[in-house]
Amino acid sequence: MKGRVLVVDDEKLMRVSLEKQLKKEGFFVRCMKTAGEALNHIKNEDYDVIVSDLRLPGLDGIEFLKEIKGVSQKTIVIIMTAYGTVESAVTAMREGAFDYVCKPFSTDELIIKLERALNYKKATSEIIRLRSEIQEHYGHDNIIGTSEAMMKILDTIKTISDRETTVLIQGESGTGKELIAGAIHYNSSRENGPFIKLSCAALNKEILESELFGHEKGAFTGAIKTRKGRFELADGGSMFLDDVDDIPIEMQVKLLRVLQEREFERVGGEETISIDVRLICATKKDLANLVKQGKFREDLYYRLNVVAMKIPPLRERREDIPLMINYFIKKYSEHLRVSKPDISQEAIDLLMKYNWQGNVRELENVVEHALVFSSANGIDVQSLPEHLRRFESKPGEIPLDLKDKDKIDYQDAIAEFEKSLIKWAHKRANGNQVHMAEILGIPRTTLRNKMLKLNLS
Ligand SMILES: Nc1ncnc2c1ncn2[C@@H]1O[C@H](COP(=O)(O)OP(=O)(O)OP(=O)(O)O)[C@@H](O)[C@H]1O
Ligand SMILES: [Mg+2]
Repeated sequence: MKGRVLVVDDEKLMRVSLEKQLKKEGFFVRCMKTAGEALNHIKNEDYDVIVSDLRLPGLDGIEFLKEIKGVSQKTIVIIMTAYGTVESAVTAMREGAFDYVCKPFSTDELIIKLERALNYKKATSEIIRLRSEIQEHYGHDNIIGTSEAMMKILDTIKTISDRETTVLIQGESGTGKELIAGAIHYNSSRENGPFIKLSCAALNKEILESELFGHEKGAFTGAIKTRKGRFELADGGSMFLDDVDDIPIEMQVKLLRVLQEREFERVGGEETISIDVRLICATKKDLANLVKQGKFREDLYYRLNVVAMKIPPLRERREDIPLMINYFIKKYSEHLRVSKPDISQEAIDLLMKYNWQGNVRELENVVEHALVFSSANGIDVQSLPEHLRRFESKPGEIPLDLKDKDKIDYQDAIAEFEKSLIKWAHKRANGNQVHMAEILGIPRTTLRNKMLKLNLS
């Protein structure tokens, strides 16, 4: 059995056909006519996924969604919407739906979404324990994201946590490297051991050596007593070595020895100290490239790169942005002790299209800012920092900032460009779709399909 699915739709034809086809695919399927019926049912029986129509008699889909979350946080909800109501689908996503399909849809489309939902559920339920650990020990409460890239990362965390392998996490600033390193540690059998962090950025050889390996009394001027290094402190646990590319080349041999032999001497000491530490490293740079340039030892690189995790920048997984916005609004409104404000569609659109050089950290800061500057109506474009408002590209301009790029996501870029063309036509034609299609020289159905695909309503 692939998973337990509950279909809620008042249309009989829909129920019958989904039940038949999903069963054939190996899902366990039950169907209900109304939200009320379904709510009663899930109080007694667990489902992995609920596929619900957005428009239901009695309780509508959004209300239903909230009620489901009240009964079972773990149940994933996929919403079915009618053509032309994508906007309400977005509302549903904001309220915690996992995904949506637009009617009419093919069963294959739904099956792909169901499988994605089940994979996500599997990955997250394994790390629910880990999340509460992190919250307790580490001050982080969640790894948010349902993009394919994030799901792969969650999956890798799950697979490797209990192995002893060294991990190399690569990603731009603010992408969540430290968060993920913590997740690996707190989900491993070392969870009760220490999690020790050190950034190698801009530390000279002497300081770094003494930080990592400790020193004996009198080893150098100022060493007035023996001090344990981070490796010794991490014994029995994990060590997170950030900006590992910045380790001076002459120190790299010593690190290599720790990795190979699990032993070292303190600076100025003779006693060989053995340790049991798992090493998790992070870098913002392309280490393989540094190896080529002779700035990083090849043998060390291979030792570190046993398991490599690449965290894509936020602008390459924009589908995670709404969930993150929601998460940070919740986090900061609790923090500021205000009730959770609404956020306007325009503000979300802008946040989704901004190019986030500072990644999740920058998004988090922007949401915090927006909360402080929200009005009685909640968060809208005016609540966002000025540089974001200025980013809102004027119609007619290509909304891409290629200045600091050496690589782009082609499909993303094209989608951005199409969006700006359609918005331009929208303005020109005062929203009249027949006229818009004329201006753009494409059939109206093509225009409509594009708008749906690009989430333009
Ligand atoms: N997937 C995510 N879900 C929720 N919060 C996230 C996620 N990724 C990052 N964050 C948050 O963004 C902020 C930055 O993350 P983190 O410090 O882990 O990034 P980093 O890659 O280590 O950054 P740097 O390279 O600058 O050290 C943190 O507050 C973190 O909790
Ligand atoms: Mg970091």
